[in-house]
Amino acid sequence: MTLSERNQKHNWHPYTQHKTAQPAIAITKGEGALLWDENGKEYIDAIASWWVNPYGHSNKFIANAIYKQLTTLEHVLFGGFTHEPAVLLSEKLIEILPSNQQKIFFSDNGSTAVEIAIKVAMQYFYNKNEKRATIIAFENAFHGDTFGAMAASGISFWTQAFQESLIQVIRIPVPTIGNEKASYDTLGEIIKNNDCAAFIFEPLVQGAAGMVMYEASALDKLISICKENKIFTIADEVMTGFGKTGKNFACDYLSQKPDMMCLSKALTGGTIPMAITTFTSAIFDGFYDDDINKALFHGHTFTANPTGCAAALASIELLQTSEMQDNIQRIHQQHLQFQEKIKKHQKVKTTRVLGVIFALEIKTDSQASYYGNLRNKLYAFFIKKGIVLRPVGNIVYVLPPYIISNEQLQKVYQTIEEALEIV
Ligand SMILES: Cc1ncc(COP(=O)(O)O)c(C=O)c1O
Repeated sequence: MTLSERNQKHNWHPYTQHKTAQPAIAITKGEGALLWDENGKEYIDAIASWWVNPYGHSNKFIANAIYKQLTTLEHVLFGGFTHEPAVLLSEKLIEILPSNQQKIFFSDNGSTAVEIAIKVAMQYFYNKNEKRATIIAFENAFHGDTFGAMAASGISFWTQAFQESLIQVIRIPVPTIGNEKASYDTLGEIIKNNDCAAFIFEPLVQGAAGMVMYEASALDKLISICKENKIFTIADEVMTGFGKTGKNFACDYLSQKPDMMCLSKALTGGTIPMAITTFTSAIFDGFYDDDINKALFHGHTFTANPTGCAAALASIELLQTSEMQDNIQRIHQQHLQFQEKIKKHQKVKTTRVLGVIFALEIKTDSQASYYGNLRNKLYAFFIKKGIVLRPVGNIVYVLPPYIISNEQLQKVYQTIEEALEIV
């Protein structure tokens, strides 16, 4: 039996209807931007394995840092204890995050980073005896799959079975070009009519919605409306963080600063699951009290796992090298050139580029569904050609590891061009 066949027996995969899905491809090796399956077939990982892996698969520098940490102190509980990797990582993050971010809370994945931000926003007001339980979020947002994160997410078929059990979230339109005013006005109305605790958003790019992009000036305006009304702002940088938009964080494009930030995915360079939620000192102070009941009673067994912290420190070191920064700019330039070439194609509706993110929307007669026929046809075509791309409905996007070569990138673009001929 192949690995893929043995896998079928017991493993339940994410976002998968097992009755209709193809068997999972068994990957046996990864190096740089490449993956190999059990039959030796090579794939270019053009989406950095769900956006986690900017520095390449099986990165030796991160692996060595992990090994060193594993053989020094692999784990210790973070309740009542601390360790050097956590201290160093908090210091490093404070150095590179927007200057108002001063406190770091560790967890395990993007959803928990969001969950913690939402809980902190709600408990902050609870601690002050203020009833504020409504969260504001963008239409078509994606913030994860735990209950709070799911409530904030707007993609309905992922969450519809749970609608009755979710916290109150009210949505505003995304301020894409032409929709800015509707977005500001709706936010104003919601704030007037509800007891809002926070506004959560994916800054500048809504990843899971299909790399939907909007301007920094529009987000600045929304944040300033929230600030005027003393409503917390939560920047979910789980996807955008650590260079994807061309700067360390998407929030680096803003004049305003969010009150909280959620980080995960590329934090550890795709090696060890880890997430972080960061806060201003003012938020931390809302929990700082003689009364134990005002503390944040949230924690996970692997909070601030030293090995994860060591992986994150090595990853940030790589991000800050001029080589990696040059790679980000190089990919950006390549994307712009491809955009120029492809945007007039008769089957292309729109294209967009930010940092290392490229997205192209294919013209369709009707609304393409998230996991519909077009998406499935494209996905199968790319896999056949040895390219890992996961289109979202009619949107094909590329978000490669930063170390992808120009040659590999050209192969990805060329395959997208070929795909346009079969749809
Ligand atoms: C913006 C954003 N937030 C949160 C999440 C959830 O992260 P995780 O899958 O690690 O729970 C994702 C995942 O894609 C994301 O894109």
